Amino acid sequence: MAAILPYYRSVNRDFTLLHGNCMWLLNQFDFKFDMIFADPPYFLSNDGISFQSGKIVSVNKGEWDKGKSTDEINDFNMRWLSACRDKLKDNGTIWISGTYHNIFSVATALKSLGYKILNVVTWAKTNPPPNISCRYFTYSTEFVIWARKSPKVPHRFNYELMKLLNDGKQMTDVWRLPAIARWEKSCGKHPTQKPLALLTRIILASTDENNWILDPFAGSSTTGIAACLTGRRYLGIEKEKEFVVISKNRRIELDDINKWTEYRSRIKDIGKSCQLEVPGIASEPSIAYDLPF
Ligand SMILES: C[S@@+](CC[C@H](N)C(=O)[O-])C[C@H]1O[C@@H](n2cnc3c(N)ncnc32)[C@H](O)[C@@H]1O
Repeated sequence: MAAILPYYRSVNRDFTLLHGNCMWLLNQFDFKFDMIFADPPYFLSNDGISFQSGKIVSVNKGEWDKGKSTDEINDFNMRWLSACRDKLKDNGTIWISGTYHNIFSVATALKSLGYKILNVVTWAKTNPPPNISCRYFTYSTEFVIWARKSPKVPHRFNYELMKLLNDGKQMTDVWRLPAIARWEKSCGKHPTQKPLALLTRIILASTDENNWILDPFAGSSTTGIAACLTGRRYLGIEKEKEFVVISKNRRIELDDINKWTEYRSRIKDIGKSCQLEVPGIASEPSIAYDLPF
C-alpha cells in the first residue's frame, strides 16, 4: 500500500479530500465507512443539446463523462462498486445516483456483488429544464439506488426522522426537491453538482452524528458539505484538479460560522430535524475512530 497524502483536511478533521483516481486510491488504505454516496459518471456526454437558463447548451460535461460501450460501462461499475464494498462497515449502506444511461448497469453490478437493494428513490426535480426537441416528455427525474452491504446484517434507517420531515406521514421513495440553486455555486461551477437538499436528506436518513461518509466521485464535494452541516465526517476522492479546488474552498467557507448557519437555514430538512429531541443520536461517539492517514 502506498502512503497517502491528503490534498486537503479541515482543521477539525471532519473533511478530508484525496486528489486522484478512486479505483486506485480505494485499494491503498484500510478503513470502514458507515455510508457511501456515489455520483459516478452517467456516460451521457454524447454531443447532445439541452436548454438552461434561457440558453441552448451542450449536454457534454467533460472527458470523464464521455459515452462508452455497454461492456465498458458494466466493467467500470463492477470495479468501483467492488472496491467500495470493501470500504463499507457490515451494517453500512451505499447510495448511487444515476439516470437510465447508467442506473441499470449499477443495479446489476450491485446484485452480482452481493449488495441488497433497499429502495430506488426517484428525485423528482420541481424545476426541470424544458425539452427543446419537443419529441419526448421533459426529463425531470434522477434515480438514487439505496443498497446495503449485506443481505443479512440490518442497516440504519432513521425512520422517525424521515416521517417528521414528511409532516408526520411515512416518507415515500419519491422526493420532490428543486435542482441546484445559485447560492450553492459560491465557490465555482461543477457541471453536475448535486443540490445540498438531496444529500442532506440521504445523510439524515441513513447515518448518525459523527458517522463516516465516503464519496469516491466527489466532484465539488456536495456530500462533504452536507456531512459537515449535519455533524458527520467525510472523505472525498476526486481526480480533476479544478474540482478538488472547488471542494476545498466550499469547506473553507464553512469555517465562517455565519456561512455555516446561513447554509443550514437554507436547507428545510435541517431546520425540521432540529425539532426532534435527539436528531440522529450518535450511536458511536468514537471520535477516536479516524482515517489511517
Ligand atoms: C457526477 S460528478 C460528481 C458531482 C458531485 N456529486 C457534486 O455534487 O459536485 C462525477 C465526478 O467524478 C469524477 N471522477 C470520474 N472518474 C473518477 C475516478 N475514477 N476517480 C475519481 N474521480 C472520478 C469526475 O471528475 C466528476 O467530478
